[in-house]
Amino acid sequence: MNIPHIPVLYNEVIETFADITEGYIVDCTLGYGGHSEAILKNNQNIKMICCDQDMEAINFSKKRLAPFGDRVIFEHAQFSTVIKKYATYDIKGVLADIGVSSLQLDKKERGFGFESENLDMRMNPKNPLSAKEVVNDYSQSELEEILREYGEMRDAKRVAKEICDRRPFESAKELSAMMKKFGGKPKIHPATLLFQAIRIEVNNELGELDELLESIANAGLKDTIVAIISFHSLEDRIVKRTFKNWTKSCICPSEVMRCTCGNSHAIGKILTKKPIVPTKKEEKENPRSRSSKMRVFKIG
Ligand SMILES: C[S@@+](CC[C@H](N)C(=O)[O-])C[C@H]1O[C@@H](n2cnc3c(N)ncnc32)[C@H](O)[C@@H]1O
Repeated sequence: MNIPHIPVLYNEVIETFADITEGYIVDCTLGYGGHSEAILKNNQNIKMICCDQDMEAINFSKKRLAPFGDRVIFEHAQFSTVIKKYATYDIKGVLADIGVSSLQLDKKERGFGFESENLDMRMNPKNPLSAKEVVNDYSQSELEEILREYGEMRDAKRVAKEICDRRPFESAKELSAMMKKFGGKPKIHPATLLFQAIRIEVNNELGELDELLESIANAGLKDTIVAIISFHSLEDRIVKRTFKNWTKSCICPSEVMRCTCGNSHAIGKILTKKPIVPTKKEEKENPRSRSSKMRVFKIG
């Protein structure tokens, strides 16, 4: 089987879930099944709920994970919905390795790459919003806002204006060519942050992450390990802040003199003071792992 994606932090993910001996582990981002396969092999008595919004990924992984039979439930959905749906199951672990897979990045027709003839970037091709609408239909101020917020681009205003002056765009290739005149950091393609911003908007990536974390906190889970792997600072900030909030017993606003919230809101503890990052060896073997960070929390 030709596997189009190398899972990041592979050994670290196995170790994180190694002590779980029963119940279910939810893989929110099944992708090409690398992490799920490793967990199924290592934790022989657990079952898995494996979710992805991309049917191409689900179909691939159904074949890859076929040897594990009814130990795997496949769920074609957005991960913001999956924990609620399976909240009555005995969930002992949750993994999310968020972002795009190598296949999505490398397959030109999906429109994620700088050289693609398409302008798409949808992880779920049934999503009504694609990069084409964002680039060609959003107002200049809407574009500027997403470039500033999701791309953290200092020249957001200039780039938004340039897009509006030059549109319509038919392909990712035309859009990335336009960015050459803006320059950027050495070794990084000048369109990197622009593409990141558009992709986040198209797939509602930060909203999905917020909703996933909220659904985990509200599911009444006990004795559950939650591991989130993120690939850029916007996502990592959300995970870090949320995990910290989950440790707070009192959630009263800081200005109140006396606690009125009941002082019993902590749901567990952070297991990783600092995020787990790839070793130099992994970075060398799989350069796409470079920006990955895993944070782990234990509920209950
Ligand atoms: C980095 S890949 C995961 C790779 C996987 N861990 C493996 O070992 O092959 C991320 C996957 O998550 C999926 N994904 C991203 N955001 C999602 C969301 N909000 N809901 C469901 N799936 C999502 C993508 O479609 C992609 O297949």
